[in-house]
Amino acid sequence: MTARHFLSLMDCSPSELISLIKRGIELKSLHRQGVVYEPLKNRVLAMIFEKASTRTRVSFEAGMIQLGGQAIFLSPRDTQLGRGEPIEDSARVLSSMCDAVMIRTFEHADLETFARYSKVPVINGLSDDLHPCQLLADMQTFHELRGSIQGKTVAWVGDGNNMCNTFVQAAVQFDFQLRIACPEGYETDAAFLEQAGDRVTLLRDPREAVAGAHLVNTDVWASMGQEDEAEARLKRFAPYQVTPALLDLADESVLFMHCLPAHRGEEVSAELMDDPRTVVWDQAENRLHAQKALVEFLLAE
Ligand code: CP
Ligand code: NVA
Repeated sequence: MTARHFLSLMDCSPSELISLIKRGIELKSLHRQGVVYEPLKNRVLAMIFEKASTRTRVSFEAGMIQLGGQAIFLSPRDTQLGRGEPIEDSARVLSSMCDAVMIRTFEHADLETFARYSKVPVINGLSDDLHPCQLLADMQTFHELRGSIQGKTVAWVGDGNNMCNTFVQAAVQFDFQLRIACPEGYETDAAFLEQAGDRVTLLRDPREAVAGAHLVNTDVWASMGQEDEAEARLKRFAPYQVTPALLDLADESVLFMHCLPAHRGEEVSAELMDDPRTVVWDQAENRLHAQKALVEFLLAE
């Protein structure tokens, strides 16, 4: 049997995604009550990080320990992956020793290649195209604080990057309307937009995107791997900073999310980070609970 992978939100059905979120909420509650729950005793998650990480690394590592298993951190700097060993070979070897593999990398196609040769589940811990684990935590956060997101209006302000692409997929899977406001030339990939049809509207004016929205999101203006473009992007994106005043145009129940790390004074104003509508710390914590639900689901398959 081929392993079940989680490279994008489209790898699960809408009902599986809702179940994962509900399970994340249950696991959070068990954890807070101090209940020891170790269904993954002796199970091992390998984690390959070709880009930096705080939240993804710590949440997977802590999550595996809490579930009774272990996680192994692998960096290309000190493995043969960084010296050119083919992805196919690494996939065959790692998946013969470990029970699941999480990968944070640049090219999404590398994840797909790894998954094709892996006997065990492969999890996308962020690629240049997608960050589905973050969306599990974000959807859990919205669900906990506001209930179902179905039929709600969500705004994305800023770069049409990997997080924005993942929100486009989330609009399809969780059935909400997404309005994207981004500068010309920084749109979400056309292929993702096509997949979403009329659930997504592309705009230029952040105020138009945010008006009446129930959830507003942004992310850094220069993602990992775009460091050389950072200065040019600062100028181009200046009108897209999310501030308390911009959020005032949204629905009164609005939540503000950012996957973090945040750059205060760039994509988000410093005041907004401390605004009561901001739920970035809940999102970050929920990475732990949502991914425990994900690993439990994938390893139970
Ligand atoms: N949001 C997120 O994935 O954070 P890290 O880069 O710290 O893992
Ligand atoms: N878009 C950002 C997200 C970081 C979690 C990046 O890819 O760097």
